Amino acid sequence: MRELKNESHKNLSFLLLDAFLLAGFWLLNQPRLTGILIHEWFGILFFLFLLWHAGLHWRWVVNIFHKFFKVRSLKQYARLVVDILGLIAFLAIMISGILISKSFLPTLGFSAMRSHSLKLFHAMATNAAVAMLALHLLLNVKWIIKTIAGLFTRRRHPAGSKLPQPE
Ligand code: HEM
Ligand code: HEM
Repeated sequence: MRELKNESHKNLSFLLLDAFLLAGFWLLNQPRLTGILIHEWFGILFFLFLLWHAGLHWRWVVNIFHKFFKVRSLKQYARLVVDILGLIAFLAIMISGILISKSFLPTLGFSAMRSHSLKLFHAMATNAAVAMLALHLLLNVKWIIKTIAGLFTRRRHPAGSKLPQPE
């Protein structure tokens, strides 16, 4: 019983972090709305939360690598590929964003680059991250629906709401 309660709390905190990431990502795609100052500093904060999110699933990633040749589900490989490509896309956004930053680097005492190609690269990496995110959420849609539905039912521990495990 206690284990189920812990699982439910864990799922809820994962869901809150996911919702924050999704809303944050949308906001970061509106630099004209937020202004460049908020865009840059919130972007750095967002990345730390993203690393936290990936860190929470570190065991899943290690498991997948351990059982790499024994995994029989194509979906698990797809998850891994999407996660790795997503991490690369977000790293590319961060590095290019920092290099062209108008507030972040200057505040640290460095001068930023004025490069049109880097700005274009920043925008292209953002498009890649949008594609990754769409696939990532699609691959996790079952868990998302079950966890949200669990919040509205009296039985707060929907069967099979645990995070996906490598098969
Ligand atoms: C805006 C960005 C993101 C959102 C909204 C998001 C959302 C989610 C959701 C809803 C899940 C399933 C439930 C959960 O465990 O929380 C999940 C799982 C996971 N996410 Fe993310 N995610 C994002 C970015 C990333 C990135 C960039 C990585 C790569 C390092 C990543 C790595 C993982 C891993 C390893 C899992 C578990 C296995 C899997 O389903 O792939 N996530 N994410
Ligand atoms: C997930 C994180 C981020 C996303 C999704 C994102 C997205 C975007 C988008 C969509 C644009 C507009 C591109 C255009 O007008 O063609 C932009 C511009 C820009 N971003 Fe980011 N960004 C992120 C993080 C960062 C970070 C961390 C920094 C710097 C520390 C940064 C610095 C900039 C700068 C300097 C511009 C150019 C603004 C201008 O000259 O109009 N971004 N970003």
